[in-house]
Parts: sequence; structure tokens; C-alpha cells
Amino acid sequence: MDPKEFREVGHRVVDFLAEYLDHIEERRVFPDVEPRVVNELFAEPLPQEPNSAENVLNELESKLLPYCTHVGHPGYMGLITPSPNPVGIIGDLICSAINQNVGAYSIGPSAVAMERRVVRWLTDLCGYGAKAGGNLTSGGMMANFIGLKVGRDAVTHDIAQHDGIHHRWAVYASEERHVSVDKAVDCVGLGRNALRALPTDTNFQVRIDALEEAIAQDKKDRIRPMCIVGVFGTTNTGAVDDIRELRRIADGEGMWLHVDAAYGGGMLLSHEWPMRDRALELADSITIDPHKWFYAPLDAGAVLVKDQDRLTASFGIKPSYLTDELDQANERYQYYVHGFEQSRRFRSLKVWMSFKRYGACQIGEWIDNNVRQAKHLYVLAEKDPDFEPATSPPMSAICIRFRGAGLNETESKELHAEVAQRVEQSGRFWMSTTELKGKTWFRINPVNFRTRKEHMEELFRLLQQECLAVLRARGAASRASD
Ligand SMILES: Cc1ncc(COP(=O)(O)O)c(C=O)c1O
Repeated sequence: MDPKEFREVGHRVVDFLAEYLDHIEERRVFPDVEPRVVNELFAEPLPQEPNSAENVLNELESKLLPYCTHVGHPGYMGLITPSPNPVGIIGDLICSAINQNVGAYSIGPSAVAMERRVVRWLTDLCGYGAKAGGNLTSGGMMANFIGLKVGRDAVTHDIAQHDGIHHRWAVYASEERHVSVDKAVDCVGLGRNALRALPTDTNFQVRIDALEEAIAQDKKDRIRPMCIVGVFGTTNTGAVDDIRELRRIADGEGMWLHVDAAYGGGMLLSHEWPMRDRALELADSITIDPHKWFYAPLDAGAVLVKDQDRLTASFGIKPSYLTDELDQANERYQYYVHGFEQSRRFRSLKVWMSFKRYGACQIGEWIDNNVRQAKHLYVLAEKDPDFEPATSPPMSAICIRFRGAGLNETESKELHAEVAQRVEQSGRFWMSTTELKGKTWFRINPVNFRTRKEHMEELFRLLQQECLAVLRARGAASRASD
């Protein structure tokens, strides 16, 4: 591909994407297509011969774009993947063009410096001091894993990373934790059964009495308490655990406190509902994902550690082929000795560009709009006797359920699943269902700067209509079988 072709193709792609973003609401959010058809789209052997870039792009236009989930569409309110902000999209293009590898200083000096600055912005936002550090990660899953690994090593006095785990240990988290915590507990060598899933109160915050009881029981059983994982914004309802209490208990037992703010970290930018007084800074480590509620395109998660030397203690192995002998003054920051991953994409670029282009103020306004939309839906659901909200939403995630017609839980689960499917088929919205305290709910979460109040109203009307339509269809079906 010579520079002329690169320029022509690049212009065409940027023009195409500008049109795409400008008219995104005219598309279906989710494609109306059978999975079998999608799977067959790309079924071909490895291409041996070259093709023109134009042909390749034409193929994408016909095979890829029509079958995407358009997460930038204002009706996308599902699993937490934001509308990517446009300057972040451009950032990713630049990132691939220069292909800096922030694993090592020698493969990206300015990129390493930029990531260190972005990490500093995030640690400042969380209220950490000068000793804090961190890495940008592929997402919250990896960040939770690194947080737990660093915690495991600190609590075992830097034995576990050398000798492994020889005693029984336990980790404590709320029943509303993200599943990545379960995977992390497994990956640090404790096994999933070492996780104590604790009940929550009516606000979906972890119950402190249950935490204290679980620790006391474990100690009786000669199991050592290792780590508490607090949640700052649960996936289902945006609940924030009482971090001050978690800190008090962790200190009493010599435990690590990791707080998962993968989603809820966005609230630190909110103007109207700032959560900077919720003591996030008391955590020893934090997960916070710019690719969730800072509207950065995937992928850009982050793990932050209050004392960055703990990262080095956990991961600091220097293989001979990477040691930088010329750096006598130790000025070349080597992420590979202060983090888990080696080759790493230059993720900070899109995050840096987003903050520079929009400023924290504008991003905070987008966040406030999303929270306002969730609160509006809450009011709509509360006013309708056939519906019930789980709790008043502190963030943008809201769960509501249909409670009309006196359905039992099995029938209710089926109804919610069928309605969610109909909503998907409408092409106007996408949302998920979930379970909370043994009941099924619609889970709706705008993390999207294109969503407006009227979208919440339209979605609620659709839910009212489809719940009744499913009930009618079922009534007709049962009459027919009588
Ligand atoms: C609270 C929470 N933690 C962690 C994660 C995992 O993040 P990721 O999907 O970026 O790996 C999620 C994902 O939604 C989440 O909501």
C-alpha cells in the first residue's frame, strides 16, 4: 500500500465514519439476523492473493457494518459499553499508525510519559497521593485481577509471588460484585471457593454485619482473611459499598482493600452528584475504566495502587533481553517491571485526547445527563402500578420489573426474557435482563452521550406495550391449548 493509496483509503474511511456517526440513530441498534447467517459471512479459507483496499472496504460495508450492535446509537442501554467519543476514535487510528509499545520505554518514550500522566490524572481524581501509580489495562477484568494479585502479595509479605499459596485464605465481596472478581480469586491461586459472596441490604450495599460474621467464621475454621473487594458502582444498580467501614475492618485484620470502581468511577466527574466524599481513596487499589463511563473507545481499563512500589514488588522481574543497561540514572520507566502485561497498546492516547478535547467538565455533563435519564425512568416506573423499580438509581444503571398480572417467578422470568427479545427485535433499543434478590428485572443503563430524556420515555412506552402484548399472546396460547 503506497502513501497515495493509504491517503485515499484513509480519507474514504474517515468520511464514511463521519456519516456513520452523524446518522447512527437511523440504524437498527441490533441487527435483525440469525446467528447462523452472521457466522457464515466470513467463512472462507485464508486469502492467498492480494486485493485492492477498495474491495476490502466494500466487503466490510456489506458484511461487517450491517451486523454490528451500534453501541453509539442513543437507544443502546445495555451491558456497559459506551458511545465512543469521536476524538477517542481518531486517537485509536493514530495509536495503530505509530504502534508504540508502552511495555518498555525503548519502544515508546513519549507514549510511556503520556500513560504516566493519564494514570496521574486518574489517581488524583480518586484522591490518591504522590506515591500512587498504576497501569492502563484491557479492562476491568484485568484490573481486578492485578488488584487482587498485588493484594495477595502484600498480605503474604511478598512470599506468595515466589512460593505460591500454602494456606487457606478467603476474599470477601458483595453478592452484587462483578464476575471478574470470582475469576480473579481463582487466577491468584485461591480457588473460587475462597470467595465469600456476602448479602446486601435494601440499597444493594454489602452488609457489614455479614462481612464481620464471615470473617469470624473463617478465623474459627483456620482460614485467613486476605482481601475485601468493595464495589463503587455495582453493575446492576450502581450501589456503592461503605468504604470507610470496609477500611476499618480490613485494618483490623491486616487485609488488603481493593475497590472496583470500573463503572462507578465516572461519578467522580459528576457536577450534580459528585461521589468524591465516598472515601474511594481509602482503598489500597482501585479499578477504574475509562472505556466505561469516560466514553473512551475500547479498550482502556485501569488499575491504580495507592503505593506504586507494590506493583513493582508483585511484577518486578527483569529478563536479560529487556534490561536497560544504559539507564544509569533509572529515568526510563519500564512498565513491564511495574505491571503484569508486557507488550501493551498505547491506550492512554485516546484517554488523553478525550480529556484534552472535551475536558473533565464536558464529560461530567454527559455523565450527569445519563444519571438524570435513569432517574427519569425511575419516576415513570414508580408511577405505573404495573411496574416496580429496584431502587432509586444513584448512577445511570436502573432495574425495573413488570409486576402486573400476579405472575409467579418462573412466569415473570419468561415474560422479562421475551419482552427483552422483542425490544431487541424492535431495532430501537437494546437492554438486558438480570436477577436481583431472586427476582428478574429489566436492566437499563445509558452510558451514552447521544441518549436523551425522550429516549427513556419511548423505551418505557415500548416496555409497557410489549409486556401487555406478551401477556395477551400467552393468554391466547393457553386458551388455545385448553
Ligand atoms: C463493576 C464492574 N467491574 C468490572 C467489570 C469488568 O470490566 P471489563 O468488561 O472492562 O473487563 C465490569 C463490566 O461491566 C463492571 O461492571
